[in-house]
Amino acid sequence: MITVENLSKSFTQNNTRVTALDDVSLEVPDGTVCGVVGTSGAGKSTLARCISLLEKPDSGAIRVDGTDLAALDGSRLRAARRQIGVVPQGDSLLRQRTAAGNVALPLESAKVPAAQRRSRVAELLDLVGLSDKASVYPDHLSGGQRQRVAVARALAAKPSVLLADEPTSALDPSTTDSVLTVLDRARSELGVTVLVVTHDMAVVRRIADDVAVLEEGSVVEHGKVLDLVSEPGSRIGSTLLPETDQAELVRSPGGEHDVTAEVVLVGFAAVGALLPEASNRFGVELSILGGGLTRLGDTPVAKFRIGLSGERSESALKWMIERDAHVRRAPVSVDGVAA
Ligand SMILES: Nc1ncnc2c1ncn2[C@@H]1O[C@H](COP(=O)(O)OP(=O)(O)O)[C@@H](O)[C@H]1O
Ligand SMILES: [Mg+2]
Repeated sequence: MITVENLSKSFTQNNTRVTALDDVSLEVPDGTVCGVVGTSGAGKSTLARCISLLEKPDSGAIRVDGTDLAALDGSRLRAARRQIGVVPQGDSLLRQRTAAGNVALPLESAKVPAAQRRSRVAELLDLVGLSDKASVYPDHLSGGQRQRVAVARALAAKPSVLLADEPTSALDPSTTDSVLTVLDRARSELGVTVLVVTHDMAVVRRIADDVAVLEEGSVVEHGKVLDLVSEPGSRIGSTLLPETDQAELVRSPGGEHDVTAEVVLVGFAAVGALLPEASNRFGVELSILGGGLTRLGDTPVAKFRIGLSGERSESALKWMIERDAHVRRAPVSVDGVAA
């Protein structure tokens, strides 16, 4: 578990103070993947560097498994550092070392005996799907393969926490996928807690359980990805959902449908069955007017604009809401016309 409490950090640039982090609090539960997103300059790397103890915060606390990192020094600090594996921003491999040689580096620093080192390196290269590239030098690996070696290296000392700063920047979508698969595997197979800093929403879509949005050094939204998509006011939620045309979200008694609404459905059962079941049960005609289906991690999520026709349209909508569909509709005035 990573706990960030009221973290602040500023820098002096050309005699002016720049606040990189302003009272940031964040919790990443054990064995989850948290995405920290934000535009360039939002403070993402500073947060990652503070957590990995490369940067000293001005105030606030960072706890890994309950231990306040700022309070440690000497050997206890070095031990705490080993609990945190870091995949730095950019290309970070040593050019003069093979893939296996790069992964072995932290094990050499920790004075792990050679035989043990070799078997650990083999295990890690297998985890990231690069067993056949052990003796290849970084210049002969693709960008995605280099990042996977960097992930293997970060996992070498068996950390409980993995921090990755923009692990997919400059990669094409298919290569991005291979790197995300490896981060996901670190969580699911090794139980590592992963904090991934990124400007790329594909990362959040594919692997994040939780997401935090940083804006000018402050957390402006934070929560479970699947909760945020059903929150009407969530910007990150609406970014992750398919588009629908808001302009059509009005009730028009004289129009084609008795009721129009926007529904967000989360999970296999809801996405697969809720709309047809509502239509059957209440004898209403239900048309999909817009929107679509997406996937967040392994969970299918849909946002549809629907039109309902029939006497029991309102009851059908109410029934869907009772079954955890998130329904948004235009406010209706007393005479039944959209306000
Ligand atoms: N070492 C540093 N010295 C001076 N300013 C810095 C330093 N590191 C970061 N900053 C400033 O802090 C702000 C946040 O930077 P950063 O954490 O790198 O953002 P991001 O990773 O979200 O792009 C920026 O204004 C940046 O210029
Ligand atoms: Mg950065």
